Amino acid sequence: MDGLLSNFGWDIGVDLGSTNIVIGLKNRGIIVDEPNMVARLKKRRWTGMSAPKQEMGAVIAYGYKAKEIYNREPRQVEVISPLRRGIIADLEAAETLVSYYMKMVYEIPSRYPKIYRSRILVGVPAVINDVQKRAVRTIFAKVGAREVILVEQAILAAVGLGLPMDRSTAVMVVDVGGGKTEVNVVSLGGVVVGRGVESASEDWDVAIANYVKMKYGLLIGKRTAEKIKTEIGNVSLKNLKDSRNMVIRGRDLESGLPKSIKMEEEEVREAIGLEVSRVAKAVAQVLDETPPELMEDIVKRGIVLVGNGAKLKGLAESIEGEVGITTLVADEPGLQVIGGILEAMQNKEVFQLIKKVAEMR
Ligand SMILES: Nc1ncnc2c1ncn2[C@@H]1O[C@H](COP(=O)(O)OP(=O)(O)OP(=O)(O)O)[C@@H](O)[C@H]1O
Ligand SMILES: [Mg+2]
Repeated sequence: MDGLLSNFGWDIGVDLGSTNIVIGLKNRGIIVDEPNMVARLKKRRWTGMSAPKQEMGAVIAYGYKAKEIYNREPRQVEVISPLRRGIIADLEAAETLVSYYMKMVYEIPSRYPKIYRSRILVGVPAVINDVQKRAVRTIFAKVGAREVILVEQAILAAVGLGLPMDRSTAVMVVDVGGGKTEVNVVSLGGVVVGRGVESASEDWDVAIANYVKMKYGLLIGKRTAEKIKTEIGNVSLKNLKDSRNMVIRGRDLESGLPKSIKMEEEEVREAIGLEVSRVAKAVAQVLDETPPELMEDIVKRGIVLVGNGAKLKGLAESIEGEVGITTLVADEPGLQVIGGILEAMQNKEVFQLIKKVAEMR
């Protein structure tokens, strides 16, 4: 019966990241790729006759629109990222956000009547515990899922990279996201060894903002820091020839007035180098724990970086320098997890295998 239904239902995939939410639909591809953010009216702990009538906690923007107002919001509005380090931190906000985007997916015209409820495959961190898993399940059950399957993002990324799942061949996947970095060795549809690092792309934004504050007495927002990172960020070990620079504007710490400075590529490296090097250290540690039988595969195939954070210039090079194994950035690194989900939904054998492994945990 289940098999029959699945021919009619909707197969939906979700990469629920700390920074971005990406939703894909079987046979249709990616439908949603937006920042995982909501802007809502602040809740005030205020009851009684004088309590304002406006709806508390009402959402005013999602995704890109919410990110747009971040750091510019009026006093009564707050902009929240419901996930922290890959894990749901604000259940209510996560629920509103997911149901908003799922509604969008359900509105896509289909040949099948909507009574056939969907099967949803969600990518989650490898380090997630049972309580956190239940939170994810609850959210998707509420939006009408018939079945919710949780699979580690590392496994899905490996599927996206085309790793054969039915043979014992291994790949090392380093997922550099906004909220967390994970280093995992994947083989036969499961994670063999791995660990999480609490140093990811958003931490590097903070490091840049701190650096600018200390060195220039200039206050900049998170979005400016992110822009510096994406435009002139570089952790290459080599001499930075033709160093790029960028004019940045902020508020002078002393006078409180607007001020601008010119920031050099070299300075960004100085600001984030130490934080970023934690990723390479974690890669070395996981290699240390990897069974010798799998080492050959990893050396042959190389280490693969996924996640949008992997776009940082010089990151692959610095990992390669630390461990001496060829390190590559996947094409479209931020879409490897959703790509793997869509692939798994098309391929019955792969789907059954990763589902079985997921159920064994
Ligand atoms: N060109 C770039 N260079 C450096 N960093 C980038 C670039 N483009 C995007 N990023 C960073 O990538 C991060 C988002 O990565 P990604 O979308 O993989 O995270 P996520 O999957 O939502 O989060 P997580 O996997 O940590 O839960 C952001 O912090 C963003 O600043
Ligand atoms: Mg991610």
